[in-house]
This record gives sequence, structure tokens and C-alpha cells, in this order.
Amino acid sequence: MKIRNIPQELVKRFEITPSADNIYDLPAIWFKNNVIYLIDQRVLPNKFEISEVKNYEDVIFAINDMVIRGAPAIGAMAAYGMAQAADQKQDHDLEMVRDKFLATRPTAFDLFFAVEHMMTRLAAGEKPALAAENYVQEIIARCRTIGKFGNELIKDGDKVLTHCNAGALATVDHGTALAPMRFANEHGKNIFVYVDETRPRLQGAKLTAWELYNEGISHTLIVDNAAGYYLHCGEIDLVITGADRITRNGDAANKIGTYEKAVLAHENGVPFYIAAPISTIDMSKTSGSEIPIEERGSEEVLMVNGLPITNEGICARNPAFDVTPHKYITGFITEFGVLKPDEIEDVVKNKALSGLKSGSL
Ligand code: MRU
Repeated sequence: MKIRNIPQELVKRFEITPSADNIYDLPAIWFKNNVIYLIDQRVLPNKFEISEVKNYEDVIFAINDMVIRGAPAIGAMAAYGMAQAADQKQDHDLEMVRDKFLATRPTAFDLFFAVEHMMTRLAAGEKPALAAENYVQEIIARCRTIGKFGNELIKDGDKVLTHCNAGALATVDHGTALAPMRFANEHGKNIFVYVDETRPRLQGAKLTAWELYNEGISHTLIVDNAAGYYLHCGEIDLVITGADRITRNGDAANKIGTYEKAVLAHENGVPFYIAAPISTIDMSKTSGSEIPIEERGSEEVLMVNGLPITNEGICARNPAFDVTPHKYITGFITEFGVLKPDEIEDVVKNKALSGLKSGSL
């Protein structure tokens, strides 16, 4: 992803080379000499920091504390973490590490997909770092393809609404929901993005807006409650979000608030798309009611930037995700094209038969 203004001290320390005009091109996470490097997503956009992760306990902390977040990026973190743990396995047992990774964030399916993929590759005797790198590069390539297919849905002049952050930060590079917007912008289309702020953690305000700024894509921030107003006014041509887990019938879990955007889009005749690679599709689940929904700590609701926003002693519930039923989803933008919800199952089965055996995902 394009990044402007990386502090010079970090440029030197991490040997980051600018691609042009002091713009840098970095993934959200990378792996070198058995250390995982990641852009710290907790402190953006006010600070740019890179965390170094050297053992499986730090991997668990980074996922739990959301130093890295977004389903495919969590998968990438787990893949590198498994490779690192395999290399250090004189210190611990790999099954224990796998189980601890799987207990971090229950909704994001890429975590389960990546860990299982790595266990299979390691059991087949592949070199850990190479297996993890192949996994991550494959995810990056698939997101780029999602961008290409999604671009075909965006017309010059379109205004797009997105929720949360399904950009490069959430996927290592390109993004899922943001990939079509990046692609459209690179190909000269004039687009405009409405960014939901995405309470409680504000991934839209803090991360999506930062990515769009860095990419030079026109955008505006709106409070979550304003999306319905703009959909009703005819201000939004299409909605694109990511997903954390998709089930066989085409139901999809994504950041809390996605469901209401989908219903409002449907009510106002605006197409609603979900962009995701097949590593987000859980073929073991028939419908969205089977998806485990992560509930996070109440402090995320009760505080903003470390300061309380309500009276002391109040309770707060904090489900991190909701499920959008497939009837509200116009289509899924995948690496295999734009699919209707009822095409998901067959396409994944066919691709699984032809593709998964060949060594790719
Ligand atoms: O809680 P988060 O920030 O990990 O939630 C992220 C989302 O809901 C994203 O939309 C989803 O993971 C898709 S990322 C390409």
C-alpha cells in the first residue's frame, strides 16, 4: 500500500526504500529472519509505528490487542506465527501454539483457514518460512484480483459507501472492499468514498480514511448513523464491505453495523456487495446463525481514545460483528469473479477440487 510520511528514523531502521516522491510501498505485515514486522494499527493515524514480534506469545498479544486486525491479515499473522513457532519448536509444541492462536478471535475465518493450511504444509515437510510466505503472497494476489473484478462494478463518478476497514491494513495489501476502489482510481475513474467511522474502535475513521488519503482517493467521513440518510438521498451508488466469515448459503459476518447498512441499501435500491477471498468462506457452516460472534470488552464502548464518554459504573455490550442474511447481498466480489450468494457453494467446491490440490490455496 502507498504510505506518505514515514518517520525517517523508521525508514532507516527498517531499511524502507521510497518508491517515488517520498511515497513508500509497504505491506501491513512482513516476515524477515524469523521476526514478524507489522504496522501498529492501534496508533494510526496519529503515529506510525512498526512492531516486532519474536515469539508465539507476542503473536497472540498482537491479534488480541488488535495491533493487527482484519480477517485476511489475522490469517497472515497466524501463518507467519506458525512458521516462527515451527522454527522455535524446541521450546514448545506446535499443537499447543495452534490451539492458542485459534482461541484469539473467534469470528475471523481466515485465522482458522491459515492455521490449518500451515499445519498441513508443515506436516508435508515444507520449510516453515517458505510455506508462510507462499500463503501470504497468494492472499495478496487474490486481493489484487478482487480489485480487478470489483472495478467492473464501479462507474466513473460513482459514490461508494464502506464500513470498517477492509483495506490493505486488513489484508496485508490492496484490501478486499478497498481493492476495487484502488483499482478504479488507478485506472483513472473519478470515485468518491463515504467512510463510516465504525464505532466502537473507529476503524473507518482511523484506518480506512488514512488509506484513502495515502492513495489520493476522494472521501468523506460520516458518523455510522448517517449512512441511512445518504442512502435515502440517492447520494450512494453502491456499498462495498469486507467479511469475516461467509457461510455456504451466502450469509456473511462482518463488523457490527454492516447488517443495518445492507438492509438500508436494500430498502433504497442500492446494490450491496461483499468483497472477500475464499479463505473467508467457511464451508463447514450452512448459515450465518452458526457463526460464533466475538464479544469484546465493554471499555471499547465506554471510552474513546482512553477517555470515558459516559457515567461511571454503566454497563455496555460490545458484539464485534453481525451477520447479514444473503437476501440483502447483491453479490460477492471474489478472486473467481462476482458471485451471487447461491453460487458460493458450487464455486468454492469446484475451485477446491481443481485449485487447492495444486499447491495454491
Ligand atoms: O474487528 P476487526 O477490525 O478485525 O474487523 C474487521 C472487519 O470487520 C473487516 O471488515 C473484515 O475483517 C474484512 S477485512 C478485509
